Amino acid sequence: MYVIAVASQKGGVGKTTISLNLGLALARAGNRALVLELDAQGSLGLSLGLADRARPGVAELLTGAERLESVLLRTRDPQLQVLTVGRVDPTTVAGFEDALTRAPVLPSVLARLAPDFDLVVVDCPAGLGKVTTRALEVATHALLPLQAEPLALRSVGQLLAVIDRVRAETNPRLSMLGMVLSMFDRQASASLDVAETLWTRFPDGIILDTVIPRDEAFLEASLRGAPLLLMQKRPPPLARVFDQLANDVLVRLEPTSPDDDDGPISLLL
Ligand SMILES: Nc1ncnc2c1ncn2[C@@H]1O[C@H](COP(=O)(O)OP(=O)(O)O)[C@@H](O)[C@H]1O
Ligand SMILES: [Mg+2]
Repeated sequence: MYVIAVASQKGGVGKTTISLNLGLALARAGNRALVLELDAQGSLGLSLGLADRARPGVAELLTGAERLESVLLRTRDPQLQVLTVGRVDPTTVAGFEDALTRAPVLPSVLARLAPDFDLVVVDCPAGLGKVTTRALEVATHALLPLQAEPLALRSVGQLLAVIDRVRAETNPRLSMLGMVLSMFDRQASASLDVAETLWTRFPDGIILDTVIPRDEAFLEASLRGAPLLLMQKRPPPLARVFDQLANDVLVRLEPTSPDDDDGPISLLL
């Protein structure tokens, strides 16, 4: 089972939006996928239209009040399930984070999920705090959304340093899946500058080909409690972006083996 931690130092860069829509796109591509929310703010539940603190989730697993089977939420797509953060009182976030990062809980939940899922997409809170670090410690891959604006470049170095540290100290199997540019605005020169800097400054292959555009439809989707793909009977063209992102991700998860013939492919059969 692949565990993809979606992390960024900054808030509001599209982590939750990407986790949910990518999870659905991965499920539609035939994978048994789970979106796991570790952000005490609970925006995943909110963007699914669940009322604030309505459903039990990770918090209730930590206290032992609920069993794993009863907090997994099924979705319209039989291949996709969601596990939200549950009821975390804003005044007890620190206690929740302590419990979550105490050694065995998260790995044991993942071990119990492993037989039933191919992929888990972990929606991390903003920042490089202990929850994000813990998610990276149990993940197989890190996916870093980067908002296409100048300040984003400053924070990415610190996150890469955390990933290096986690890899060196606790989780050698953690791989960098890549960075994905989000909220990209073709009209804005700042967006273009950031994209250009990223493409030139980072080694080849770190930046995923898929770019998530800035679009009002995302806001509307989260207000209406639906992933983009399910907003209308006929999905908006923008939803395609996540099929493309899922494809980028799947290609990186399953690198071609060295014996694969990489010669030219004949067009004619
Ligand atoms: N590509 C985008 N274009 C426009 N708005 C977006 C986009 N991605 C996310 N949003 C909106 O921006 C806000 C923050 O996004 P969110 O995914 O919650 O970020 P994070 O999880 O990193 O805090 C939400 O209101 C969301 O609907
Ligand atoms: Mg979020």
